[in-house]
Amino acid sequence: MTIPLIDRFRDRLPVSAATPVVSLGEGSTPLLPMPRLSERWGVELWVKWEGANPTGSYKDRGMTVAVSKAIEEGAKALICASTGNTSGSAAAYAARAGIPAVVLMPQGAVAGGKVAQTRMYGATVLEVRGSFDAAYAVARELVARGTHALVNSLNPYRLEGQKTAVHEIVEELGGAPEAFAIPYGGGGNTRAYALAFRELGLTSRLVSAQAADRANTLATAIRITDPVHAQYFSETPAEVVTVTDEQIVDAWLELASAEGLFCEPSSAAGLAAVKAGAATGRVVCTVTGHGLKDPTNAERHAPAPIVVAPDPDAILAASLPE
Ligand code: F0G
Repeated sequence: MTIPLIDRFRDRLPVSAATPVVSLGEGSTPLLPMPRLSERWGVELWVKWEGANPTGSYKDRGMTVAVSKAIEEGAKALICASTGNTSGSAAAYAARAGIPAVVLMPQGAVAGGKVAQTRMYGATVLEVRGSFDAAYAVARELVARGTHALVNSLNPYRLEGQKTAVHEIVEELGGAPEAFAIPYGGGGNTRAYALAFRELGLTSRLVSAQAADRANTLATAIRITDPVHAQYFSETPAEVVTVTDEQIVDAWLELASAEGLFCEPSSAAGLAAVKAGAATGRVVCTVTGHGLKDPTNAERHAPAPIVVAPDPDAILAASLPE
């Protein structure tokens, strides 16, 4: 049986024997060498493939801890605001725990796969007429009334769970890489990584890549104008790097076609920063979410299919390299 993340890292997490473990087999994700991109970009590139988590994003690492602790503390319902991945994860773990979840999403600004996924798990999906930031503000107001447990990354258990990615990477590489590169939306994952840096005494660089146009980026997972964790970044080693949508799309397509890894656009932000020269030497990019979550962007940017007659000559003509 797959080891739950909480059991694998029990000694480094705020859990006890009394904590009911709510797990879907999260964590222990692949760490993959990237030989072609390493060669092209002049670094020794590795990818931590977080799309391999049960709901297709790294959020599951934090959600298993947050939901297990919420159950331990007697929560009756969960709430989050989300650009789509936190909501999918919260809904899945709520279903697993057998409690209701309410998720607030910015109307019309969440990738289709994530909306479908969250609905499938049976959460109450509310589309807020407003941005993610507006949805987050109202979720926090409701939490202050005591009806719901918040499972956004302001919940400290989320960060405790998410820090385990760094523990896995260092364990598998047999030491710290020169740099880690991750996307930066609200900044929770950056703080989670910084937490692990402190625990392990790492002096690696931590490159956090944000979208140049936060309000309108096609990378909807990180379409956040007011990152709630930014005020704490001075306490972390994070170096914030800005990448344009063009750079994100470029790295995103290249990862898929050169290495066989299909992520969602937001997940390629760290890669785009590395491609632009933000890090050198041995670099681990965390690729945060699965490409199938955002089929619309893939269909818009991937090479179009060629329509052919069911005829061998036509197929040969269409498939021969130019
Ligand atoms: N990558 C993906 C795939 C995400 O979904 C997110 C955030 C980030 C990176 C950024 O991480 O916010 O910790 O800096 N998604 C949140 C959500 C906002 O609601 O799913 P961060």
